[in-house]
Amino acid sequence: MSISETTAPYGAARGAAVAAPRKAVTLSRLADMHASGEKIAMLTAYDATFAAVADAAGVDCLLVGDSLGMVCQGLDSTVAVSMEAMRHHTESVARGLRRAQGTAWLIADLPFGSYQESREQALRSAITLMQAGAQMVKLEGGGWTIDTVRFIVERGVPVCAHLGLTPQTVHALGGYKVQGRDDSSAARLQGDARALQDAGAAMLVLEMVPAALSARITDELARCATIGIGAGRGTAGQVLVMHDMLGINLGKPAKFVRNFMAGSDGIEQALRAYVQSVKDGTFPDDNLHAW
Ligand code: KIV
Repeated sequence: MSISETTAPYGAARGAAVAAPRKAVTLSRLADMHASGEKIAMLTAYDATFAAVADAAGVDCLLVGDSLGMVCQGLDSTVAVSMEAMRHHTESVARGLRRAQGTAWLIADLPFGSYQESREQALRSAITLMQAGAQMVKLEGGGWTIDTVRFIVERGVPVCAHLGLTPQTVHALGGYKVQGRDDSSAARLQGDARALQDAGAAMLVLEMVPAALSARITDELARCATIGIGAGRGTAGQVLVMHDMLGINLGKPAKFVRNFMAGSDGIEQALRAYVQSVKDGTFPDDNLHAW
C-alpha cells in the first residue's frame, strides 16, 4: 500500500476514540493544498511524544529542524548541530508518528557541513535522514545549492529549500536580520526561489523576509509551496518552532512568534489553535511584522 492510500485515526496519538479518518499528508496532497489556497500548518518537532500530539492536533507537516541545537542542546546557533543528532531526532519523531498512526508529512534538516562539500555528500546525508524516517529533506541557501537540489530530487529525495535568513550562515550574514529589504537583494532572492522551483524543490521556507516580497514569490511559484516564518501572511503556509509558540524559550522570543499557550487549556489545545489560526489566516497578523 502506498503512503497516499493509508489512513489513520485522528486522535490516535492518545488512544482516543476514532472520530474521523485523516488521510496521510503526501507530496500530492500538499500540492493540492497549495493549488486550492488551503494554508499549510507546519511545526518543528524533536521527539516522539510532541510529534504524536502535534499530529493529533492536525499539524500538516512536522519539521525536525536543526533548531534542536538551541531548543534541545542549549547551543547558541545551529552551526554545530551534527548529522548524528539529526538522525537521532528524526528517528524519534518518525517512531512517535508511527506509534500514533500519524499522518503528518515529515521533513528533516540537513545540518551545516552535511551538504556543502559536494552533490554526492548531500545525497549521502539526505539518504541517511530518509532512512531515519524523513519524507523530505530541507537545506539552506540559493545560488550554489540549486545544482545540489536538482541532483538530490532527480535521485528520488523530495527537497524543501530555505531562503531569506538562513541560520546556518548567521555569521556570514552578520546576525539574525531581515533579508531582501533592498531591491537588489530582493531580486536575487526572487531569482533563487524561481531557480529552486525549476530544480525540483517542492517546498520553500522563507524566513524573515518582507511580507510583500514573500507574497510576490508565493504568487510566482505554482509548483513550490512557500512556508513563511516571519515572512507575513501571504505565503502558502506557516512554520514556527514548537517551543516558541508554546511560550517556552531560553531567550527572548522573536518578534513574529505568537504564544498559543496564552488562553489555552493545554498543549494539544494550543497546537490546535495554531493550526486553526494558520488555516483561517489569522496567524500571522500584520502587527507581528514591522518589515
Ligand atoms: O531549524 C528550524 O527549526 C527551521 C525552521 C524554524 C524553519 O529551519
